[in-house]
Amino acid sequence: MENKSYKALVVEELNENEFFVEVKEKTVNDLPAGDVVVRVKYSSLNYKDALSAIGNKGVTRNYPHTPGIDAAGIVEASTRDEFKPGDEVVVTSYDLGMDTPGGYGQYIRIPADWVIKLPSGLTLKESMVFGTAGFTASMSVYRLSSVVKPEHGEILVTGATGGVGSMAVAILSKLGYYVVAASGKSDAVEFLKEIGASKTISRKEVTENSDRQIMKGRWAGVIDTVGGDMLAAAIKSTIHLGVITCCGNVASPELPINVFPFILRGVSLVGIDSQNCPLNHRKELWEKLSRDWKPEFPADFHNEISLEELNDNIRLILKGKLKGRTLVNLGS
Ligand SMILES: NC(=O)c1ccc[n+]([C@@H]2O[C@H](COP(=O)([O-])OP(=O)(O)OC[C@H]3O[C@@H](n4cnc5c(N)ncnc54)[C@H](OP(=O)(O)O)[C@@H]3O)[C@@H](O)[C@H]2O)c1
Repeated sequence: MENKSYKALVVEELNENEFFVEVKEKTVNDLPAGDVVVRVKYSSLNYKDALSAIGNKGVTRNYPHTPGIDAAGIVEASTRDEFKPGDEVVVTSYDLGMDTPGGYGQYIRIPADWVIKLPSGLTLKESMVFGTAGFTASMSVYRLSSVVKPEHGEILVTGATGGVGSMAVAILSKLGYYVVAASGKSDAVEFLKEIGASKTISRKEVTENSDRQIMKGRWAGVIDTVGGDMLAAAIKSTIHLGVITCCGNVASPELPINVFPFILRGVSLVGIDSQNCPLNHRKELWEKLSRDWKPEFPADFHNEISLEELNDNIRLILKGKLKGRTLVNLGS
């Protein structure tokens, strides 16, 4: 096992701020110590993976490094009784793919506390169509839906064609919400309707009149994936007692807003941190995703690529050009 060789995407730092990506041969011996060795069948592409692959030290401090914050595969070896060779498992979050070699390698070795058994309602492939994006969307929907019900009104999803956004649209629609999908892609209307959006609007429509301290109330709830002006405008146009979730910053980490929406309309802003979600809640959400919350995904919802095709797709996600989810087939 230790000398077994495998393929992995490796990011190397050539000079300061100069990074090079290639698919290389590694051995299991190169992996850090851990309880469970998993043969990775599928991973997925998230925005954070792209940041790790271009040398963002806020995500990954040390190079050479193999990114991939998601992995689904089969246990090959375990020092812990709860996992046996042959078990199908899912590993997302914690330090996977950040400073621990991640799912863009055909093998990972990780602590048992990071591993969950594949829920019976999902295949390994489906679990990675969800991946961290789907899991984050499920955390956001969980927090929103504990207060805001479908009869309360329209739910806005920003960055709607992105990984988290498209998953949020699909899950909310499955749960009976009227979903308004905001996107910067004018050619994505068909795609967004197909995955469950009741209505689509442009980014500009969200931010129109956002120079006002408070805007006309429209949204019963918001799942925001982009931050910045879009999030500020969404908060200002949320109706009384509405809930807004915030998970990302692809537009900006800034939040140009004052307290009026909170003190005049009683709205709540909920932060989402999927990386450190406690294990019990993590299992509960994966169970939901495998059953009642599992959407019917149209065929073009995900694009399946190989390790060799990853680098081109990393460039595309950084430009906000991808739609839906990108699944990585490790071919192992
Ligand atoms: N907190 C957590 O636990 C957690 C977990 C997962 C992800 N995240 C974060 O959530 C965000 C989304 O992640 P993701 O994997 O879904 O990324 P993604 O697939 O790249 O989706 C982001 C989407 O945002 C929109 N967008 C891109 N640039 C924009 C800009 N300048 N202004 C406004 N909208 C823009 C685009 O959608 P449209 O073209 O449709 O507008 C894009 O597809 C990232 O910041 C990521 O780091 C956080």
